[in-house]
Amino acid sequence: MSRKFSKVAVIFLFLAVFGLVFLLRNVSIMENWNCHTVSALDQHQSRIQSSLIPVNLPTSNHNHTFCGHLGQKPSREEELEERNLLDSISWPGPPPRSSPIVLDQTSDPVHSLFTLLIKEGREWHVGDQLEALVQMHDFQGRPKHYGGDFLLARLHSPELGAGVAGKVLDHRNGSYSAVFPLLWVGSAQVEITLVHSSEAVAVLRRLREERPDRVFFESLFRSGSHSETTVCNMCLPTVQKPQCNYTDLSTGEPWYCYKPKVLGCDTRINHAKGGYVKNLLTSKEAPLFQSGVNIKVIIHASGPDRINVLPPRKDRAEVESSVKPEAIQLSPSGYYYEDSWRPLNGVIMRQFNESSAITQCLKNKVIYMYGDSTARQWFEHLPAFVPELKQFNLHSPKNVGPSMAVDSTHNILLKYRCHGPPIRFSTVIASELRYIFNELDGLSGGPNTIVVLSIWSHFSTFPVEVYIRRLRHIRRAVLRLLDRAPGTIIVIRSANLQALDPEVSLYNSDWYSLQLDEVHRAMFKGLNVLLVDAWQMTLAHHFPHALHPPPAIIKNMIDMLLSHVCPVTKKSHQ
Ligand SMILES: *[C@@H]1O[C@H](CO)[C@@H](O)[C@H](O)[C@H]1NC(C)=O
Ligand SMILES: *[C@@H]1O[C@H](CO)[C@@H](O)[C@H](O)[C@H]1NC(C)=O
Ligand SMILES: *[C@@H]1O[C@H](CO)[C@@H](O)[C@H](O)[C@H]1NC(C)=O
Ligand SMILES: *[C@@H]1O[C@H](CO)[C@@H](O)[C@H](O)[C@H]1NC(C)=O
Ligand SMILES: *[C@@H]1O[C@H](CO)[C@@H](O)[C@H](O)[C@H]1NC(C)=O
Repeated sequence: MSRKFSKVAVIFLFLAVFGLVFLLRNVSIMENWNCHTVSALDQHQSRIQSSLIPVNLPTSNHNHTFCGHLGQKPSREEELEERNLLDSISWPGPPPRSSPIVLDQTSDPVHSLFTLLIKEGREWHVGDQLEALVQMHDFQGRPKHYGGDFLLARLHSPELGAGVAGKVLDHRNGSYSAVFPLLWVGSAQVEITLVHSSEAVAVLRRLREERPDRVFFESLFRSGSHSETTVCNMCLPTVQKPQCNYTDLSTGEPWYCYKPKVLGCDTRINHAKGGYVKNLLTSKEAPLFQSGVNIKVIIHASGPDRINVLPPRKDRAEVESSVKPEAIQLSPSGYYYEDSWRPLNGVIMRQFNESSAITQCLKNKVIYMYGDSTARQWFEHLPAFVPELKQFNLHSPKNVGPSMAVDSTHNILLKYRCHGPPIRFSTVIASELRYIFNELDGLSGGPNTIVVLSIWSHFSTFPVEVYIRRLRHIRRAVLRLLDRAPGTIIVIRSANLQALDPEVSLYNSDWYSLQLDEVHRAMFKGLNVLLVDAWQMTLAHHFPHALHPPPAIIKNMIDMLLSHVCPVTKKSHQ
C-alpha cells in the first residue's frame, strides 16, 4: 500500500517538474498531444503518465487532428467539404486570457436575463416571428462582452401540448437573439436555457481535440486456454509497442489494438468499452460544470415571457426585428400540437394508433435498423406495439444485437444491428463487429426495403473529422444502394438532447451532439432520404431531456417513419 503510494508520488513529482519545464518551453506543442491512451495492464499509472509524456505523434496544426486524419488520404473535394463543414460549425470562444479561468467571470444563468421584443399594444398572429434578446452576465452580475455560450430556446404552451424549437443567434458581444415562428393560436411562452457557459464550451472543445482517448476500448484475445486483454482505439500512441491493425480495407476506417504479448492479432474475440478517463479537468475548470448552477439552467425573463397569438392575419404587416431577416432563416422541421409532431418538411403526418395500421403499412417489408442504442429504441418500439411482430431469439446481448423480429403472416422482417467501432457498448463479439457502410453494400434493397440509420452518440469524444469521415463512407454506401435499387426507403434519425451532469458533459455533452448533428444534416442534405429531426423533437417537447427519449416521443418518430413509408392517399382513411 505505502510502496504503491510512494511510487505514485514520485511519478507525480517527476511529472509535475517535467510538465512545468515542458509548458514553459513551448505551450503550443501541447496541442499535438492527441490520443494518449493507456496500457491495459497498468491503467492507473500509465494514464497519469500518458497525459503528460509527449508521445511521438506527427506534428500537426489546428486543422488536422491525429485521429481525424488517419485512414485513407482524403481527395481534394473531400478536403474542401471537410473544411466547409468545420467552418460552418465554428464556435466563438472566450478571448485568450493570460490567467486561468475563474468561475466568477463566467456566464451565470441566474444573473442573466432575457427580454421579449414586444411593443405595447402589438397584436401577434400565426405566421409572425417572436424575438427574445438574451443578455448574459457573470456570477458577479457584470454583463458579458463576448459570445460562445450554448443556449437552447423553445416556445411552448403547456395547455395546448404545443412546442417548437427556437433559433439562437450569437451576437458575440454577450447578447443573443432567440427567434421563434408563431405556429399556433393561443398562448406561447418562451423558455431559454443555458446548457454550458462559453468558458465551459472552450473546455469541451479542448477535450475533444486533445483527449479523444477519454473513452477507451478493450479487446479480449484468446487461443486455447490463453487469453489477454489489450487497449484499443481509433488511434494509439506508438510508444514502441506493437499494434494490431484492424483498419477496414474497403474504406481505410482505422481501428487499432495493442498487440497481445503472446497471441496473434487474429485471435481477437471481442470489442468492448474499456472505460472513461477520470480527472480530466483542472481545479479551475471543474466549477464550470455544476448541476443546478451552470449546466442546463433556465434563464429568467426580465418582463413578460409569454404572448397570446391570434389566427393568421389577412394582410402581412412588416416584421419588426432587431435581427436582419436574412440573418435568421427560421425553418423548423416541425412542432408539437396536442403532443403530436406536425412536420413542416413535406411529410403529412398520420397517427398509427392501431397495431393493425402498422402491420398494414409494413406488410411485405424488410426493415433494417443500424446504429447506436437510439436506433435500437426504434427497433424495440415496433414489437412492443405490434403483437404479431415477434422478437426472434438470436441469443445475442439485448443492447448489442443483432436482433430480429418477424411477422410471418404479413411477411414483415425487422432487424437491428449496432454500428462498428467506436461503438461504446458492453461487449460485441468480434465477428459481429460490422461497419454500416459494409452492411449497406450487402443489401439488395428496393421498394420493399426500409433502412433506418442512427449514428451519432459514440462519436462525441472524437474530433469532428472522425465523424465526417464515417458519414462520408456511409453516404457513399447509401448512394450506391439508391443507385442499384431505386425506391429503397432510407430514413436517418438525427441526434437528440440528453440529461447532462458534470461527468456526462465531458463525454456526451449536447454541445458535442449539436456539432455532430449540424454536420450530419449538411452531409445528407439534398439526398433522397427522410431526416427525422430528433434534435428538434426533443427540444420542442416538454419532457425532460433523456439520451433515450420517452415512448411518447419515440411514437411520434415512428409515426413519422410510417407516414413516410405509407403516405396519405385519397383512399386511405386513418
Ligand atoms: C514554439 O514552437 C513554435 C513552432 O514549433 C515556434 O514557432 C515557437 O517559436 C516556439 N516558441 C518557444 C517559446 O519556444
Ligand atoms: C488550415 O488549412 C488552411 C488550408 O490548408 C491553411 O491556409 C491554414 O493556414 C491552416 N490553419 C492552420 C492553423 O494551420
Ligand atoms: C450586441 O450586438 C447586437 C447586434 O449587433 C446589438 O443589437 C446589441 O446592441 C449589442 N449589445 C451590446 C451590449 O453592445
Ligand atoms: C493499417 O492498415 C492499413 C490498411 O492496410 C494501412 O493503410 C495503414 O497504413 C496501416 N497502419 C499502420 C500504422 O501501419
Ligand atoms: C391517436 O391517439 C392520440 C393519443 O391518444 C389521439 O390524440 C389521436 O386522436 C389518435 N389518432 C387517431 C387517428 O386515432
